Amino acid sequence: MNNILVTTDNKITTITINRPSKLNALNKETIAELSQAIDTAEEDHHTRVIILRGSGEKAFVAGADIAEFADFTPEQGKELAAHGQEILFNKVEKCSKPVIAAVNGFALGGGLELAMAAHFRIASDNARVGLPEVSLGVIPGYGGTQRLPQLVGKGRAMEMIMTAGMIDAGTAHSYGLVNHVVTQEELIPTCEKIAGKIMRNSPVALGAAIDAVNAGFVDGVDGYQAEIDCFRASFSTDDFKEGTTAFLEKRKADF
Ligand code: COA
Repeated sequence: MNNILVTTDNKITTITINRPSKLNALNKETIAELSQAIDTAEEDHHTRVIILRGSGEKAFVAGADIAEFADFTPEQGKELAAHGQEILFNKVEKCSKPVIAAVNGFALGGGLELAMAAHFRIASDNARVGLPEVSLGVIPGYGGTQRLPQLVGKGRAMEMIMTAGMIDAGTAHSYGLVNHVVTQEELIPTCEKIAGKIMRNSPVALGAAIDAVNAGFVDGVDGYQAEIDCFRASFSTDDFKEGTTAFLEKRKADF
């Protein structure tokens, strides 16, 4: 891996996008490496939660690598968006293990889109986020036009996309785009603390809950029916037996 760092400690896999000289901009190679790292973490029995972060103190990710697509044709642009959505952004969203984005600075364009594909976001107080694509003559292509309205509402999303501006961490918090804002020093410890709470719960149930929540945002899919199906499937799992037995025996479940 040339552009990312991956560490696993206490069942938390931290994936760090590591191109600080380019503010961690997502080039093709970085996207491919992230895709592979998500696959590996999902299969790894030692991983229960994934944290995505950027290296350095300045940026989570300052966007897709503009230098890489500046001379693209429409067909190449289509392929860039479609392939990126498939191998990374949708994969992160559908990951069966919780993915937390630790937004440690600029999260712009593809960077905010990556953070929005994660299951939720925690920001440091220096974070500045936005979708500046229209200032470059393009539109968000990694799911931003869809996930931003889901998270902040259509009107706020339209304003953010149309102005191409950045909002600060406090505003992102007030919009519900990030769940918590903490100091830079507290950012990773806060993510790890939340990951610790998540890890007390059934990994199988967590995966099913992610599927059920996501189902409600897929066109043509009945989220309530998906919930019933996931609920039903829970009853045949060892985790369900362990969770309910532990409760009745007044002990902590061992998942
Ligand atoms: N793609 C490619 N390179 C990028 C980049 C991106 N999205 N964002 C930053 N970089 C590079 C810069 O070109 C610069 O490289 P250089 O030193 O080789 O010239 C380096 O990262 C540092 O960025 P710089 O612009 O000098 O930092 P800054 O503190 O002055 O400004 C930003 C920070 C985030 C405001 C500015 O970098 C920016 O506007 N980036 C583009 C954001 C964007 O439009 N993203 C959406 C892309 S679709």
